[in-house]
Parts: sequence; C-alpha cells; structure tokens
Amino acid sequence: MPAPRPIAILIASWVIAVGASAQAQVQPVSDPDTRARQTLEAMTPQERLALLRGFIPGLTPPDKLPAGTPNSAGFVPGLARLGLPTLTETDASLGVSNMGGVMRPNDGATALPSAAAMASSWSPELVERGGAMIGAEARAKGFNVLLAGGVNLVREPRNGRNFEYFSEDPLLSGVLGGHAIGGVQSNHIVSTVKHFALNAQETGRTELDAHMDEASLRETDLLAFQLAIEIGQPGSVMCAYNKVNTVYACENSFLLNDVLRRDWKYKGYVMSDWGAVHSPSIRQGLDQESGTKPKDKPYFGALLSQDLAAGRVQAADVDRAALRILRSLYALGVVDHPVAQRAPIDEAAHAQVAQDIAEAGLVLLKNDGDLLPIKPATRRVLVIGAHADVGVLGGGGSSQVLPMGGPALTLDLPGEPIWHRKMYAPSSPLAELRARLPNATVSYDDGTDPIRAAAAAIDYDLVIVFVEQFTAEGKDVADLSLPGGQDQLVAKVAAANRNTVVVLESGGPVLMPWLDKAPAVVAAWYSGQRGGRAIARVLTGEVNPAGRLPVTFPASLDQLPNPALPGADKYSIETGKSLYDVDPTGRGFIVTYPEGADVGHRWYDRRGLKPLFAFGHGLSYTRFSYGNLALTGGDALSASFDVSNAGARAGVEIAQLYVRIDGVRRLAGWSRVDLEPGQTRRVTIQAEPRILARYDTRKAGWRLKGGRYVVEVSAAIDAPRLSGEARLKARRLKP
Ligand code: BGC
Repeated sequence: MPAPRPIAILIASWVIAVGASAQAQVQPVSDPDTRARQTLEAMTPQERLALLRGFIPGLTPPDKLPAGTPNSAGFVPGLARLGLPTLTETDASLGVSNMGGVMRPNDGATALPSAAAMASSWSPELVERGGAMIGAEARAKGFNVLLAGGVNLVREPRNGRNFEYFSEDPLLSGVLGGHAIGGVQSNHIVSTVKHFALNAQETGRTELDAHMDEASLRETDLLAFQLAIEIGQPGSVMCAYNKVNTVYACENSFLLNDVLRRDWKYKGYVMSDWGAVHSPSIRQGLDQESGTKPKDKPYFGALLSQDLAAGRVQAADVDRAALRILRSLYALGVVDHPVAQRAPIDEAAHAQVAQDIAEAGLVLLKNDGDLLPIKPATRRVLVIGAHADVGVLGGGGSSQVLPMGGPALTLDLPGEPIWHRKMYAPSSPLAELRARLPNATVSYDDGTDPIRAAAAAIDYDLVIVFVEQFTAEGKDVADLSLPGGQDQLVAKVAAANRNTVVVLESGGPVLMPWLDKAPAVVAAWYSGQRGGRAIARVLTGEVNPAGRLPVTFPASLDQLPNPALPGADKYSIETGKSLYDVDPTGRGFIVTYPEGADVGHRWYDRRGLKPLFAFGHGLSYTRFSYGNLALTGGDALSASFDVSNAGARAGVEIAQLYVRIDGVRRLAGWSRVDLEPGQTRRVTIQAEPRILARYDTRKAGWRLKGGRYVVEVSAAIDAPRLSGEARLKARRLKP
C-alpha cells in the first residue's frame, strides 16, 4: 500500500498554488526532490525560464544587482515569492576571489596557496579544511554559489591556469577536488566542479577542439571529475569553453547527458562557463547559461522561448533544468540557511589554515650536502629577488584573491588587462627570515641586476634567490623558462656562492638550466596569505618539508607530448590579448593529445623519459625506511607495509602505491604518514579499482583483467621502496 502523502506537503502545495507569503511556502520536507518539485509547481513558466539564465552584474535591470548583493562574477535573480534567494556566484578555488581587487574595492579574503600547492600536500583533510574556510568566508560575504573545484588535469605544463588545478594525475586530482568541494559545501552553499572537460590550455580556449578517444578520456580527465563528484557531490558542474571531439562542451550531449547523467547518475545542474554557450542547447544537457549581459544573444532567454513556441523544445525540457537547479539548492541547504549580507570573519584562524596548507605543500626538490635547514651558526644571509622583501606572488585571472589586509604589492603589466594584474600577498619572506634568524644579518637585493647580485653574494654565508613565474587565466606561458633574465640571475649568483638556495614561486613546472650549480631548491608555488612565513619556517627547519610533486617537471620541452604549444601560431600567447579574437581561419583548431590515457607521469614512464623531477618527488629533513610488504588480491587490491622515520626529526612521508597496467605505472593510492623520530607505522593502502581497469567502450564499463599485477610502494614514481605481485580476479565495473 502506498504511504499516505504527508499532510504538510498537501498543505504546502495548496499554499504555494495560491501564492501566499514566502514564510509559508517552504515546508520542512527533508527530501530535496520533493521540495524542488513543489517549488517548481508553484512557479510560472516565465519564472522557470528565468532560473536558467545568469548575469554579469551591470547597471540596469535585468543585470542590476539586487540591493545588498555583493559584486562578483555573476548572479541569478532570486524569487522572493517562493523563498528562493538570489544566487550570488563568485570564483573561489583559492579563496573568495576579487579579480585585480576591482570587483569589491578593499574587500579582502584569505588567500590560500595555489591548487598545485594544496595538491603537493597530498592531504584530503587539509584541502577540505581549505574549502571549508573559503566557504565560511563566502557565506560571510553573501555568496551562495562558488565557482570552485577545478579538476582539469595538467596535460599542458604551459597552461596559464595550472595553478588553479591540482595535478596531472586523475586519482590525486579527483580525490583532492572532491574534498575541496565537500569543504566548501559544508557551509550550505553550492560548489561547482569545473571545467568539464579537457580545458587543458588557455590559448584558443573558446575555439579549440580537444580530441581524445573515449576510453582514454574516461580513464583520465573524466575519471577525475567522476571521483570529485562522488566524493564532493557538487551542486553544479561547470561545462568548459572548448569543444570536445568536435562539439562544444556546453552542448555536448555525450558529456552532459550520457556520461554525467546516465552513467554517473548526477543529480545536480550544469552551468556554463562565462560565455561558453553557442545555442539554446537545453536538450544537450545544459541547465543554466551563466554570466550573460543583456546585449548578448539571449540563448537561455528569448531564443529558448522561441524554440519553445516553435515546438523545438518542450516545457518539460525547461522544467527538468529548473528542477535540477532547485534540487541542488534544497539538497545543500542554500534555501534553508540563507547567507549573511555581512558577517565577521575569523581572520587569524583562516590565516592559520592558509599557513598550514602552505607548509604542507612546499616541496624540497634538492638539498645537496644538507644545505638546508639553515644552520644556527649562519651569520650573513643574502635574500635576492622576486619582491621577497614584501610578499609572495599569486596567479591572475578569475580566481585571483585580494589578500586579507591588502596586497603587499600590485603590478600592472604594460598593455595587459586588469585580470593579468600581479598581486603579492602580504607575507614577506625577508621579514619572516629575519624574525627567525635573530643572530644573523639578513640583507636584500632586488635581483634586477644579476652582476650586482652575484658580486654581493660572494660575501655571504648563505644566499637565497627567489625566482618567480607569473601565470594567469587567459594566457599560457610561451615556454617553461623563467622570465626576465632570472635563469641568468640564478646561474651567476650560484656561481659566485656555492651555498645558494633557490626558492621557486611558480604556477607549475619550470625548466632549471642552472640546476647543477644550485645545491638546494624549494618549490613554493604560489604560497598564499602566509606564504612568506611558511617558506621561512621550512628554510629554517621549524617545519620539516612534507610536500611531494603533483606534477612532473620535464627536463626539456622535447619531452612533452606536444613539444609546441597547440595554437601558439594562431594566438599571441605573450599578451593573451588575442585570446578571444576569432581565429583568422574561422575554424578554430584541433588539439590532439598523443599521450591519451598515459597522462602526466604515465607518459614519461611509457617512453622511458627521465624528467627533471619526477611525479611524487620531494625531500625531507629526515629519512624514511619501508618494510614488510603484504599484498592482498582477489576482488580488490590492497598493500600493507611498515614506514619508519629513521632520522632525528619528526616528518611526513607520502607513501605512494603504483600498479603496472599494460606496462605503465599508475598511481592507485597513497597514504600521508606523520612520524616521530624512530616511530614505525603499519600502513594499508587500498587501490582504486578504476585505476587498475581499462575502459571498455564496446561493453560500456570498466574491465579489470584477471591475473598478476606488479605493485610498487614508492617514495616517488622513480623511487620504488618495496615491490611485489598480486593476483586479481577479473571484474567488470559500471561506467
Ligand atoms: C572562467 C571560470 C570562472 C568564470 C567566472 C571564466 O572565465 O573560465 O573558471 O568561474 O570565468 O569568473
């Protein structure tokens, strides 16, 4: 017998039908599907349609922000009559953004380290804390939809947005992305996961056509999204600018209907990237067109209405999209827990989150002769370059955060737009070093004159050269060299003083032609609100470096699957200005990915290439040893082993599990192990079964072959510590 319909719902439907006051309408029904349906039923056809179009804030209706709504990337007007709040959208992967500091003058937020830095921690917990912190600040500022959760894979190391993405590895990206999203959404707000899919470079991003066979795509970029969605359950998926296999991502029925909805059973809504829509493509799976201006072609406005009137789409298509949006709002508590217009922020606690992540994400790449940590007897230290006297660099574009307290330094690049403004977070490595080295003289040279800097370097016990690579959304880097003669600076300084430490502030991998001359190198990425303190604490040994590389550092551009940046001949990558120009040929261009499923480190492994620094690499001030491997096979693969801290300091080891699949090592799991000196821990890592499987397009699903698998427990992909074989049963897994 069917359960009787609860009275509350019956009353609610009736109240809504006669359009009573907002308070009466949303009844405490926990099931988000039911609530979404109730609200939809109470909406007029025009109101349903209006939910499908967002605006970039402008001056006159319909794009005028409602009173009290903060300025940001976009908004979708609310519906007070039914208790639906305005959807206030802000970028948020690295903090509540405020691009160039111009969107909301003086409205700072806690700037987290870049996603690459977060990923170097390999810590889902820390990344989730970061997401929760961002979400809390977003709430306090009045935002309820965060454009966070960038899980595109680093396929192209020259991509200007790699600092917004976690890793080249599908498992690491997906797991960390999922936790970032979960953290954000713990504040009863929506997070996206983005940019779905294959948005691997900025050059020509609105026109390029990324080609990849389905199986490779499922095993890599799509798997990262799939994992992030399973773990984080984002309210929304943002489709990308580019085409995927000839069809724009936001009208790509294969991606949006087949993969996302049919195979992954995703229940949230798909929003477009800003300006990524080219037709009223609601049937292809897009639910909401974002970031429009009144003068834009009204795809999800008048044009969709015309399609409805002409019978090309049905009212049910609009209802389905509106329902998905409403469902996410109820499921995440956006309606029940409205965001504040302005609430206090615990700045000190949030800065500590940024510091903890920065410290966990710094990677000690090289440390010959134990030059680091800085010895207590060091008396004269020279710090050089990269504005290390005032702060630490961040990346540019929509994710840019105006740091709390204001930037230490803002630099506008000649001829470049505001979204390529360089901003330095106010955490001075120089001041933090001075505070930690009270018995030393710590001097500064700005590094603009390599000959002067090298001459000065001779007189010091230790030299720390800061070098930087600025990257931003909307432009890729031409190559992986450090700009502005910094390679020459390091070479000259390191030749003048053997005790030279290089601190690299970059969006991703760079080449290091001077590496054999520099005994110590630290990858600090973009280190955020407390970056200077984190760097100083690691250099002085207050903190033992714990980061491991989430991306491979190539030895040369020749090692890349695409040695030349695709499309670089068509666009000016120097300025990024022509990014939105129509391709002179009018056809866009195809990007192929020769590596396919062998993304990132797998490519190096397949080809036997020796990179500059391998995936997973990172040193510590202590030593770890491994032993007693026990493998379990059968239905699932797991590895148990001991890790010991064999040195004199507490430290963190990232034990990595690699399994050879068709001849290539794949990261199948990892464990972050925190150990006191002399301590040993037994660790168990379960392998993610989809990493061990191949995607079978003929039978639509994952196929795990039965047989023997070679397993390695490693300190980095090129540093296996234990190995063995496990036998697995043949298995099929749903797509
Ligand atoms: C970016 C998105 C961002 C959006 C809104 C676009 O240019 O690609 O990542 O969320 O702008 O700022």
